[in-house]
Order: sequence, then structure tokens, then C-alpha cells
Amino acid sequence: MTRRIAFINYKGGVGKTSLIVNVAASLAQLGNRVLLCDLDTQSNSSIWLLRLERWNALVERKNAALPALFRPNPPAVADLIIRDVVENRAGERLLPGLDLLPTTFNLVDLEADYNGNPRKPAYRSFREQLALVEKEYDFIFFDCPPNILRASQCGVFSASEIYVPSNPDALSLIGFTLLVEKLLAFHEVADGFRHHSFGAAAQVQGILFNAIKTGTDIEVPRMRMQLRLNQFKTAQSVAKNAKIFSSQVRDATLVRRAVTLGLPVTLIGEESTEDTGNVVSDYRSLAREILAHHPL
Ligand SMILES: Nc1ncnc2c1ncn2[C@@H]1O[C@H](COP(=O)(O)OP(=O)(O)O)[C@@H](O)[C@H]1O
Ligand SMILES: [Mg+2]
Repeated sequence: MTRRIAFINYKGGVGKTSLIVNVAASLAQLGNRVLLCDLDTQSNSSIWLLRLERWNALVERKNAALPALFRPNPPAVADLIIRDVVENRAGERLLPGLDLLPTTFNLVDLEADYNGNPRKPAYRSFREQLALVEKEYDFIFFDCPPNILRASQCGVFSASEIYVPSNPDALSLIGFTLLVEKLLAFHEVADGFRHHSFGAAAQVQGILFNAIKTGTDIEVPRMRMQLRLNQFKTAQSVAKNAKIFSSQVRDATLVRRAVTLGLPVTLIGEESTEDTGNVVSDYRSLAREILAHHPL
């Protein structure tokens, strides 16, 4: 069974993209077949993994990226997927098993001037398209923007599990609370469009803490998050075994540099310094913890 995983929080800048890129890369490095779908109009994960040159070339080509799926006569999703996406500057493929369904800024049109069929919302047709390639993958990841508008709905509707990247602060807690409320409201409507073959509506499985500064005590924000999670569990608004994942990712300048290099952090091991080694092992442990988590 393919695990379909959305990373989402109502707060921006918490690390959704950096966590999803590096967890997806770590899982591919462990031998899994992984597809990352970029559902954020900012295209951050696409630009990261393709670098600006390849991404610009994609923008130039008509109907070559995810937004094309929502236009009349859409291409097959399989034709949009970039296989083994990670390359060095010489064009050598560095990571077999990590594929990308890239996006461009045009994804914003889905929100602005979408004249879709009200009897078949965009998320339902996205889910149907995805089903055609699903069997090829052990994991499909959805990088979502900090909202549940149309593009994000595609990820939330298609996912079987939801993880919430967070920073240990009050705004992340508010973002999480808002997310759960919006998610329940969305599922209530979207369940009417759910075919049994799509699987059950995804619940929040966990909180992922990111960008923890060395030496910072995060006990209090962690406790507040745990209390909120417990309230949601009692109300059955999140998964029964939802938890704060014990693998946290530390704050490291390498994460910001990796975007410029166009490589997942977990592939920059060669020029390893202590800082590098540590943050790489953070992503790897998080990937292993997600691998070991079984939604009930
Ligand atoms: N562990 C980290 N250490 C240092 N910087 C980080 C870390 N995680 C994310 N960042 C930086 O924080 C910013 C927001 O991260 P990003 O993953 O894009 O968040 P989101 O997708 O939630 O908006 C980016 O500039 C990113 O490079
Ligand atoms: Mg992002």
C-alpha cells in the first residue's frame, strides 16, 4: 500500500518544504520509491530540487507542470513527473527513486479563475489522476501551502496521513489549531466526493518540530502543543495515536544553503562538518520515525 502523506500547517515558514524535501530524499536513500507533489504556488520544493535553470525551462514549456492538470484536455500525470529528479550541475542523476511532480506559479490560476465542474471538484479529479501512478510508489508526499484552498485541497483529499511541521512557538500552535478546524470542515464537504477506492479521509498523525536552536529549552511550547493534541484526541479530531514526533530537526545554516545548491540536505554529506552531520542525521531519524509510524 502506498502511503500518501501531506505536510501542512496554517502557519507559513515553519519548515513544511524543507522537511518534506529532506524526509522524501531520506526515504528514497533507504530504497523506497518516492513521489513528491508540489502543491504550493510558490513552487519552493520544485525550484529547490530542479534549481532555477531547469525550473525556468519548465515554466517556458506549455502544459509541462502540475497546473496543466486543471486545464481542459489535461496531459497524463505520468507525463508531468520528473523521474529521479535530483541531478548535479553536470546533469548526473544523484538519487534514484525520488521523483517530482513539479509546479509553477501558474498554480495560482486554480484559485483565481477556475471554471471547474461543481459536481467534480479539482481535488477529486486530481485524486483520480494520481491513482493512475500510485502503484509505482511506496510514498507519495504533498507539499502544501499554509491554507486549505483549492491546490492544498488536492493534497489533503489525496493524502492518507497528515503531518504538521511546527516551530516551538505560540504561532505554530495557533496554526495547528486552525488547521484541524479547517481540515474537519473540509472533510465534511469532501467526503461526499470520496470514492471508496480513494481510502479514508486523512487525519493528523503527528507534529514535527523544526528549526530548534541548540541549547534552547522547548519544554513549555512542547507541553502546550501536547495539551492541544490531547484535547483534539479526546474530541476524535486527530488520529488516536497522533503524537509529537521525538525526532526534531535542529536549526542549521546548511538548510538555507541546500536550496541554493539545489540538493536535499541529506545529499550534501561529502563536505560534512559537525553542523552538517547533525542536521542530516535529524532528517534521517525523522524519516525512520515516520516509516515506523502506523496510522490506526
Ligand atoms: N532546520 C532549519 N534550519 C535553518 N533554517 C531552516 C530550517 N528549516 C527551514 N529553514 C529555513 O526557514 C525558511 C522557511 O522554511 P520552509 O521549509 O520554506 O517553510 P514553509 O514551507 O513552511 O514555508 C526557509 O528559508 C528555510 O531555508
Ligand atoms: Mg513551503
